Amino acid sequence: MAANHHTPDNDIAEGKKIYHDRCKVCHGDHGDGKTFAANALYPSPKNFTAKESKEELTRERMIRSVTKGRPKTAMMPWENVLTEQEISSVVSYIRQELMRVQEPQINTDERR
Ligand code: HEC
Repeated sequence: MAANHHTPDNDIAEGKKIYHDRCKVCHGDHGDGKTFAANALYPSPKNFTAKESKEELTRERMIRSVTKGRPKTAMMPWENVLTEQEISSVVSYIRQELMRVQEPQINTDERR
């Protein structure tokens, strides 16, 4: 692909592919963490779609957690597996398509 910059749509498509290849096994098709693998994990993956997750998980925090992993959990660091761009894309996919948060966050929009 000769694209000289990433459009948001490209990012989402790339992020979706990465999610389905690498994250879905634990986090689930819909990001709700209801997977077979999750049954065996403690702590188990968060339900990304829950209201608390939307409040707790900022984009910055998600990028950091995916990059560095979460100590003492099954959430491994991905910094040696995915590029920064790929991590950004997969986080965008989760936020936009699974968590359905509005980006950039516009405080006047109270819809859920
Ligand atoms: C082996 C299972 C597994 C895989 C594969 C996995 N995760 Fe996780 N993930 C977890 C678990 C378990 C947690 C909960 C960790 C915690 O409670 O801190 C988690 C937490 C997270 C969080 C929230 C971290 C926070 O700050 O609270 C994000 C974001 C996330 N994962 C993204 C991803 C992405 C993106 C991928 C694919 C590149 C991925 N995960 C792959 C198991 C997995």
